[in-house]
Amino acid sequence: MLSRSFTPFPILTTERLTLRQLVSSDEQEIFTLRSDHEINKYLDRQLSNTIDDARSFINKVNENINKNDSLYWAITLSDKNTLVGAICLFGFSDENHKCEIGYELLTNFQKQGIMQEAAGRVIGYAFNTIKVKKIEAFLHRDNQRSIKLLEQFSFRNSDEPDKTNPDLICYHLIHSRGDLK
Ligand SMILES: CC(C)(COP(=O)(O)OP(=O)(O)OC[C@H]1O[C@@H](n2cnc3c(N)ncnc32)[C@H](O)[C@@H]1OP(=O)(O)O)[C@@H](O)C(=O)NCCC(=O)NCCS
Repeated sequence: MLSRSFTPFPILTTERLTLRQLVSSDEQEIFTLRSDHEINKYLDRQLSNTIDDARSFINKVNENINKNDSLYWAITLSDKNTLVGAICLFGFSDENHKCEIGYELLTNFQKQGIMQEAAGRVIGYAFNTIKVKKIEAFLHRDNQRSIKLLEQFSFRNSDEPDKTNPDLICYHLIHSRGDLK
Protein backbone atom coordinates (compact mmCIF):
# COMPACT_ATOMS: atom_id res chain seq x y z
CA MET A 1 0.00 0.00 0.00
CA LEU A 2 1.34 3.44 -0.88
CA SER A 3 1.65 6.13 1.76
CA ARG A 4 -0.73 8.66 0.21
CA SER A 5 -1.79 11.40 2.56
CA PHE A 6 -1.41 14.83 1.00
CA THR A 7 -2.90 16.93 3.82
CA PRO A 8 -1.09 18.93 5.10
CA PHE A 9 0.36 19.63 1.67
CA PRO A 10 4.02 18.49 1.42
CA ILE A 11 6.00 21.68 0.72
CA LEU A 12 9.43 20.63 -0.60
CA THR A 13 12.59 22.71 -0.72
CA THR A 14 15.92 22.49 -2.54
CA GLU A 15 18.93 24.76 -2.65
CA ARG A 16 17.21 27.35 -4.90
CA LEU A 17 13.57 26.29 -4.95
CA THR A 18 10.40 26.00 -2.93
CA LEU A 19 7.74 23.63 -4.27
CA ARG A 20 4.38 24.69 -2.86
CA GLN A 21 0.67 24.13 -3.42
CA LEU A 22 -1.11 26.03 -6.22
CA VAL A 23 -3.15 29.06 -5.13
CA SER A 24 -5.72 31.09 -7.04
CA SER A 25 -3.23 33.95 -7.58
CA ASP A 26 -1.15 31.57 -9.77
CA GLU A 27 -3.84 31.83 -12.46
CA GLN A 28 -1.87 34.02 -14.90
CA GLU A 29 1.23 31.80 -14.83
CA ILE A 30 -0.91 28.64 -15.08
CA PHE A 31 -2.70 30.19 -18.06
CA THR A 32 0.66 30.87 -19.76
CA LEU A 33 1.87 27.32 -19.09
CA ARG A 34 -1.31 25.88 -20.56
CA SER A 35 -1.70 28.21 -23.55
CA ASP A 36 1.86 28.91 -24.80
CA HIS A 37 2.42 27.06 -28.08
CA GLU A 38 6.11 26.38 -27.50
CA ILE A 39 5.58 24.92 -24.01
CA ASN A 40 2.69 22.78 -25.28
CA LYS A 41 4.35 21.71 -28.53
CA TYR A 42 4.78 18.09 -27.41
CA LEU A 43 1.99 17.88 -24.85
CA ASP A 44 -1.11 15.88 -25.62
CA ARG A 45 -3.67 18.24 -24.11
CA GLN A 46 -6.23 20.87 -25.05
CA LEU A 47 -4.75 24.39 -24.98
CA SER A 48 -6.33 26.83 -22.50
CA ASN A 49 -8.19 29.69 -24.16
CA THR A 50 -9.24 31.82 -21.23
CA ILE A 51 -8.11 32.66 -17.73
CA ASP A 52 -11.26 30.82 -16.58
CA ASP A 53 -9.71 27.59 -17.88
CA ALA A 54 -6.72 28.26 -15.61
CA ARG A 55 -9.01 28.94 -12.63
CA SER A 56 -10.92 25.67 -13.18
CA PHE A 57 -7.62 23.83 -13.55
CA ILE A 58 -6.32 25.17 -10.21
CA ASN A 59 -9.56 24.13 -8.48
CA LYS A 60 -9.46 20.66 -10.01
CA VAL A 61 -5.80 20.16 -9.04
CA ASN A 62 -6.51 21.10 -5.43
CA GLU A 63 -9.61 18.86 -5.28
CA ASN A 64 -7.47 15.93 -6.44
CA ILE A 65 -4.90 16.72 -3.74
CA ASN A 66 -7.67 16.79 -1.10
CA LYS A 67 -8.76 13.33 -2.30
CA ASN A 68 -5.10 12.07 -2.17
CA ASP A 69 -5.43 11.24 -5.87
CA SER A 70 -2.51 13.27 -7.17
CA LEU A 71 0.10 15.87 -6.23
CA TYR A 72 0.86 19.07 -8.11
CA TRP A 73 3.55 21.50 -7.00
CA ALA A 74 4.04 25.10 -8.10
CA ILE A 75 7.80 25.54 -8.58
CA THR A 76 9.02 28.87 -7.19
CA LEU A 77 12.46 30.41 -6.64
CA SER A 78 12.77 30.52 -2.86
CA ASP A 79 13.32 34.30 -2.72
CA LYS A 80 10.09 34.98 -4.69
CA ASN A 81 6.64 33.44 -4.47
CA THR A 82 5.92 33.56 -8.22
CA LEU A 83 5.30 30.30 -10.05
CA VAL A 84 7.97 29.54 -12.66
CA GLY A 85 6.86 26.00 -13.49
CA ALA A 86 5.05 22.96 -12.20
CA ILE A 87 5.71 19.33 -11.41
CA CYS A 88 3.19 16.62 -10.58
CA LEU A 89 2.79 13.01 -9.51
CA PHE A 90 -0.39 11.27 -10.61
CA GLY A 91 -1.82 7.95 -11.78
CA PHE A 92 -0.95 6.25 -8.49
CA SER A 93 -1.38 2.47 -8.48
CA ASP A 94 -1.44 0.92 -5.00
CA GLU A 95 -1.47 -2.50 -6.61
CA ASN A 96 1.60 -1.93 -8.79
CA HIS A 97 3.37 0.52 -6.43
CA LYS A 98 3.84 3.07 -9.18
CA CYS A 99 2.90 6.54 -10.35
CA GLU A 100 3.50 8.94 -13.23
CA ILE A 101 5.45 12.18 -13.27
CA GLY A 102 4.83 15.34 -15.33
CA TYR A 103 6.57 18.72 -15.43
CA GLU A 104 6.82 22.02 -17.32
CA LEU A 105 8.64 25.34 -17.05
CA LEU A 106 7.77 28.81 -18.25
CA THR A 107 10.03 29.63 -21.21
CA ASN A 108 12.09 32.29 -19.37
CA PHE A 109 13.00 29.77 -16.68
CA GLN A 110 14.18 26.94 -18.91
CA LYS A 111 17.86 25.97 -19.29
CA GLN A 112 18.83 27.02 -15.77
CA GLY A 113 18.77 23.59 -14.16
CA ILE A 114 15.51 24.37 -12.35
CA MET A 115 13.68 21.23 -13.45
CA GLN A 116 16.65 19.03 -12.68
CA GLU A 117 16.61 20.38 -9.13
CA ALA A 118 12.82 20.11 -8.73
CA ALA A 119 12.58 16.66 -10.29
CA GLY A 120 15.37 15.28 -8.08
CA ARG A 121 13.46 16.35 -4.99
CA VAL A 122 10.09 15.05 -6.23
CA ILE A 123 11.51 11.70 -7.36
CA GLY A 124 13.11 11.29 -3.92
CA TYR A 125 9.77 12.15 -2.29
CA ALA A 126 7.91 9.60 -4.44
CA PHE A 127 10.33 6.80 -3.57
CA ASN A 128 11.14 7.61 0.05
CA THR A 129 7.87 9.05 1.38
CA ILE A 130 5.05 7.76 -0.84
CA LYS A 131 7.00 4.50 -1.27
CA VAL A 132 6.35 3.91 -4.95
CA LYS A 133 8.72 1.41 -6.52
CA LYS A 134 8.41 2.69 -10.07
CA ILE A 135 7.88 6.09 -11.70
CA GLU A 136 6.72 6.37 -15.31
CA ALA A 137 6.75 9.30 -17.73
CA PHE A 138 4.82 9.36 -21.00
CA LEU A 139 6.19 11.78 -23.55
CA HIS A 140 6.31 12.60 -27.23
CA ARG A 141 9.16 10.76 -28.95
CA ASP A 142 10.58 14.08 -30.26
CA ASN A 143 10.61 15.84 -26.87
CA GLN A 144 14.41 15.90 -26.58
CA ARG A 145 14.56 18.28 -23.58
CA SER A 146 12.31 15.97 -21.61
CA ILE A 147 14.22 12.84 -22.68
CA LYS A 148 17.50 14.50 -21.61
CA LEU A 149 16.04 15.36 -18.21
CA LEU A 150 14.73 11.84 -17.64
CA GLU A 151 17.97 10.19 -18.71
CA GLN A 152 19.88 12.33 -16.21
CA PHE A 153 17.92 10.49 -13.53
CA SER A 154 18.55 7.12 -15.20
CA PHE A 155 15.00 6.71 -16.49
CA ARG A 156 14.99 4.12 -19.28
CA ASN A 157 12.84 3.83 -22.40
CA SER A 158 10.29 1.08 -21.68
CA ASP A 159 10.16 0.27 -25.42
CA GLU A 160 6.39 -0.14 -25.23
CA PRO A 161 4.79 2.32 -27.66
CA ASP A 162 1.42 3.66 -26.54
CA LYS A 163 -1.33 1.74 -28.35
CA THR A 164 -3.59 4.78 -28.74
CA ASN A 165 -0.88 7.27 -29.76
CA PRO A 166 2.22 5.87 -31.54
CA ASP A 167 4.06 9.19 -31.03
CA LEU A 168 4.08 8.66 -27.25
CA ILE A 169 6.88 6.76 -25.57
CA CYS A 170 7.14 5.60 -21.98
CA TYR A 171 10.20 6.04 -19.77
CA HIS A 172 10.47 4.46 -16.33
CA LEU A 173 12.67 4.52 -13.25
CA ILE A 174 12.72 1.67 -10.74
CA HIS A 175 13.52 2.36 -7.10
CA SER A 176 16.98 1.25 -6.06
CA ARG A 177 19.25 1.78 -3.10
CA GLY A 178 20.98 5.13 -2.75
CA ASP A 179 17.97 7.09 -3.99
CA LEU A 180 17.77 10.81 -4.13
CA LYS A 181 16.59 12.50 -0.96
C1 LIG B 1 11.01 19.53 -20.21
C2 LIG B 1 11.54 20.84 -19.63
C3 LIG B 1 10.97 21.10 -18.26
C4 LIG B 1 13.08 20.74 -19.55
O1 LIG B 1 13.58 22.01 -19.22
P1 LIG B 1 15.15 22.30 -19.22
O2 LIG B 1 15.32 23.75 -19.10
O3 LIG B 1 15.77 21.60 -20.37
O4 LIG B 1 15.63 21.53 -17.90
P2 LIG B 1 16.37 22.08 -16.61
O5 LIG B 1 15.55 23.11 -15.94
O6 LIG B 1 16.73 20.89 -15.80
O7 LIG B 1 17.68 22.78 -17.19
C5 LIG B 1 18.71 22.01 -17.75
C6 LIG B 1 19.60 22.91 -18.59
O8 LIG B 1 20.02 24.04 -17.80
C7 LIG B 1 21.45 24.18 -17.89
N1 LIG B 1 21.88 24.82 -16.63
C8 LIG B 1 22.13 26.15 -16.50
N2 LIG B 1 22.40 26.44 -15.22
C9 LIG B 1 22.35 25.28 -14.52
C10 LIG B 1 22.53 24.95 -13.16
N3 LIG B 1 22.81 25.87 -12.24
N4 LIG B 1 22.36 23.65 -12.78
C11 LIG B 1 22.06 22.72 -13.68
N5 LIG B 1 21.86 22.97 -15.00
C12 LIG B 1 22.00 24.25 -15.42
C13 LIG B 1 21.93 22.77 -18.14
O9 LIG B 1 23.20 22.77 -18.75
C14 LIG B 1 20.84 22.25 -19.09
O10 LIG B 1 21.03 22.76 -20.38
P3 LIG B 1 21.59 21.83 -21.58
O11 LIG B 1 20.66 20.65 -21.66
O12 LIG B 1 21.53 22.71 -22.77
O13 LIG B 1 22.96 21.43 -21.16
C15 LIG B 1 11.20 22.04 -20.58
O14 LIG B 1 11.76 21.80 -21.85
C16 LIG B 1 9.71 22.27 -20.74
O15 LIG B 1 9.06 22.86 -19.88
N6 LIG B 1 9.14 21.81 -21.87
C17 LIG B 1 7.73 22.04 -22.15
C18 LIG B 1 6.83 21.12 -21.35
C19 LIG B 1 7.18 19.66 -21.55
O16 LIG B 1 7.43 19.24 -22.68
N7 LIG B 1 7.18 18.91 -20.45
C20 LIG B 1 7.53 17.51 -20.45
C21 LIG B 1 6.35 16.67 -20.59
S1 LIG B 1 6.80 14.95 -20.68
